Order: sequence, then structure tokens, then C-alpha cells
Amino acid sequence: MKKIKTRTRGWIMIIGMIAVIALIFTSCAENEKIAAKSGAQLWAENCQRCHNTPSPSAFSHEQWKTVGLHMQTRAQLTDKERDKIIAFLQQ
Ligand code: HEC
Repeated sequence: MKKIKTRTRGWIMIIGMIAVIALIFTSCAENEKIAAKSGAQLWAENCQRCHNTPSPSAFSHEQWKTVGLHMQTRAQLTDKERDKIIAFLQQ
């Protein structure tokens, strides 16, 4: 009886570990999906939620950098996403 319980616990541990590993892999896949997105895509998905963003020509390169930092906190973007969006807007 005791032996079976220990073995069951072992299986639960193994299944738990597999679940954790699977989670890590899917979150990595999610990150890769974001990494694959272009600046234009990220801009369309994140920046127009709250307002129509002005056209890329509305601000200078320096101004876009400032806007990017400001809107990064609003849109809750990662640094990578922000850099891509700014690069897109600076074109
Ligand atoms: C959560 C809502 C929200 C998101 C998401 C958001 N913004 Fe904004 N944005 C605002 C608000 C509110 C203002 C006006 C007040 C301010 O400047 O903080 C603003 C102002 C601006 C302005 C200044 C407009 C002007 O005419 O002076 C620009 C440019 C801008 N946002 C660009 C962006 C870009 C680019 C993104 C995507 C990275 C973005 N915003 C995402 C809420 C948001």
C-alpha cells in the first residue's frame, strides 16, 4: 500500500514537471510569435487601441523616440516591441 502511494506521488511529480516544461515551451513560442511581427503590425495592433496615431511624417526621429518611450508605458510594450514600432514610424 505504502509503495503504491510513493509511486503515485512520483508520477504526479513527473506529470507536473512535464506540464511546467510544456508551459515554458509555449511561452517561448509566444515570444517568438511577437518577435516575428513587424513594426507596422505591432503598431497597428497596439497603438490604435486608444487613438488614431498620427502619420509617421508627423514627428521627427527624435520626437518619435520620445513618443515611443511615453506610449510604451501606456501600451505596455516590451523594449523590443517599442523599438520595432519606433523604427517603423521613423521610416
Ligand atoms: C492605453 C492607451 C494608449 C495606447 C495603447 C497608446 N496611446 Fe498614444 N496616447 C494616449 C493618450 C491618452 C495620449 C494623450 C495624452 C498623452 O500624451 O499622454 C496619447 C498621445 C499620443 C501621441 C501624441 C499625439 C499628439 O498629437 O501630440 C502620439 C504621437 C501617440 N500617442 C502615439 C502612440 C503610439 C505610437 C502608440 C503605440 C506604441 C500609442 N500611442 C499607444 C493613449 C495611448
